Amino acid sequence: MEPGFWQQRWATGQVGWHREEVNEAVSANLDRLTSGRRSRILVPLCGKSRDLVYFARAGHDVVGIELVEQAVHEFFAEHDAKPTVVRGPRATRYRARSLTILQADFFDVTRDDVGEVDCAYDRAALIALPPEDRGRYVSHLLELLPSGAPILLVTLDYDDSATSGPPFAVSDEEVHERFGPSCAVERLAHGATRDVSERLRDAGARESTWLLTRH
Ligand SMILES: C[S@@+](CC[C@H](N)C(=O)[O-])C[C@H]1O[C@@H](n2cnc3c(N)ncnc32)[C@H](O)[C@@H]1O
Repeated sequence: MEPGFWQQRWATGQVGWHREEVNEAVSANLDRLTSGRRSRILVPLCGKSRDLVYFARAGHDVVGIELVEQAVHEFFAEHDAKPTVVRGPRATRYRARSLTILQADFFDVTRDDVGEVDCAYDRAALIALPPEDRGRYVSHLLELLPSGAPILLVTLDYDDSATSGPPFAVSDEEVHERFGPSCAVERLAHGATRDVSERLRDAGARESTWLLTRH
């Protein structure tokens, strides 16, 4: 998608993916993601997700990456936090306590920008991207992570013949194809979900939660 698409969604308040509650995949699987250790968690395409705050309150450091400045401003304003802001060549770094958001294009940020991370969480990031962008998204995500790092990934699959995303349908086969060569792939949960629009419920949307461990 063009950056303008996302700018427009935020400018017009069309952020139907945003949830006021913590995602169930996170609360159910935090220990699997962090191996029970204090971790630095990478959250690509983070929006203003409340899951970031959940991670921070559980004692972890968080580094989110979000393209749209408005989303980053809303995130800190909604949590009454006054971040320090440092502008860099590829990313503007917002930081308040253990929460960092890099306002940048995910595809531009480097390991130097992100720093050391232990694991990653993807909810509505891979499935926000059209098929032609998903290969380079997965390669870039893997480049930012060390060997052994777990990724908690939530995907959505539905009959997309009559409708198209975002969110885009991502099949089980696609998860195996894209991550299988570089990661151990384990599915933690699978089933119908109500956490989608009526349009996707009618299209039979099913959600899967995956734990991918980078070789
Ligand atoms: C579907 S939303 C999901 C947000 C968040 N993960 C959540 O669960 O609420 C996708 C987000 O990715 C951001 N985004 C899209 N393309 C991006 C890119 N290339 N780099 C960084 N962020 C991007 C959008 O602005 C949007 O906030």
